[in-house]
Amino acid sequence: MDRIRIIGGNKLHGTIPISGAKNAALPLMIAAMLTDETLILDNVPRLADVAQLQRILGNHGVDIMAAGKRPGDHEYQGQTLHISAKNIIDTTAPYELVSKMRASFWVIAPLLARMHEAKVSLPGGCAIGTRPVDLLIMALEKLGAELSIDAGYVVAKAPGGLKGATIEFPKVTVSGTHVALMAATLARGTTIIANAACEPEITDVADCLNKMGAKITGAGTPRILIEGVAKLHGARHTVLPDRIETGTYAMAVAMTGGEVQLSGARPELLQSALDVLTEAGATITVNNDGIRVARNGAGISPVTVSTAPFPGFPTDLQAQLMALMTRAKGASHITETIFENRFMHVQELARFGARIQLDGETATIDGVARLRGAPVMATDLRASVSLVIAALAAEGETMVNRIYHLDRGFERLEEKLSACGASIERISG
Ligand code: EPZ
Repeated sequence: MDRIRIIGGNKLHGTIPISGAKNAALPLMIAAMLTDETLILDNVPRLADVAQLQRILGNHGVDIMAAGKRPGDHEYQGQTLHISAKNIIDTTAPYELVSKMRASFWVIAPLLARMHEAKVSLPGGCAIGTRPVDLLIMALEKLGAELSIDAGYVVAKAPGGLKGATIEFPKVTVSGTHVALMAATLARGTTIIANAACEPEITDVADCLNKMGAKITGAGTPRILIEGVAKLHGARHTVLPDRIETGTYAMAVAMTGGEVQLSGARPELLQSALDVLTEAGATITVNNDGIRVARNGAGISPVTVSTAPFPGFPTDLQAQLMALMTRAKGASHITETIFENRFMHVQELARFGARIQLDGETATIDGVARLRGAPVMATDLRASVSLVIAALAAEGETMVNRIYHLDRGFERLEEKLSACGASIERISG
């Protein structure tokens, strides 16, 4: 298994190109199943999760072609996928595939909407909490589907097609909103999604669906209105930049000191995180090419932050912020409100000498002057990258094991960081 070796202590200087957002690319690829015409997606990041979803969609008969590079293309430019779900040959998503990636459960929406049936394995356990799918099931039932659970599978039918309805989510859910949105595009009549998630990835998917002929208004607000249409057609769409990757590198620069241009980043996608970084002592400047992050001289100030749905501070940056706060001058408090048990990084950060106490949903981090490199590993994507951030500022060598998780969500992480002066390398085998 590959590992990453980091020798800490170097400041970061240079430019990091920001990739397309994983959490938009995945639902956009799934949305391609709503039409029998070709959906072309540009700026799709080269990630293990994208490759895994390609395999899962292939199982349903979806044809995906990755366009080759053209002269003049930048080496970091994401790939262009041509996705054709002309013939859906199988409406079952088996356990072996769904259990590898939770988001693949979302295929239930286009399968039901277009084929009027689906049999999709329940995703099962997950490292960051229980993560049920009850609200997704509720939304599909509101749209008129009949659902039952049989031997670990959700069996869904909508013999006469889905019907528009009002879906009110009791709590904000990204997965629930994606599923309701996709399913409602082909439902007869009007659907209202109330208390919808406002994450930029939802807006990106809605924009793409509208290009495909859907009639969606209000995406990006808590109330989304969808007028169902009989058919969707092909379209071309560019995946928006990854706000979590942007925030992660911004925290890395705040941790090591230095100055880095995050090329292609869009500040409005992560304003709350940029505000927290400013409070922590980083200097953030917005320019035509993206965001410039610097920390020169000033130390890291402690912060008090709670995660919240967009536009609040994202849960997907909580571990990275905690890594940064391990070196703050004083005590920080970070409360995780979205996922219970998303604190696996705490024990691993302690291996660097970090002082963190957990009390229910809140971690108190007493900043220390020095971290020391150590062998570490993590069991989820964002926890893994928080260890990289700690290692970049730790004295001596850190070996990050099980980097399979990093490859799921960060494109060419070690290349992007070493181009800015970090001492980081992948060790194969
Ligand atoms: C999405 O997960 C993201 N995944 C997550 O990113 C992200 O952390 C999360 O949204 C929150 O922003 C993708 O987009 C692929 P939810 P999702 O439905 O959609 C509860 C990463 O590292 N809930 O908004 O699964 C749930 O347990 C990942 O890239 C129910 O109770 O999150 C959680 O407490 C990890 N019942 C809360 O809602 C349901 O039916 C929010 O979950 C569904 C969710």
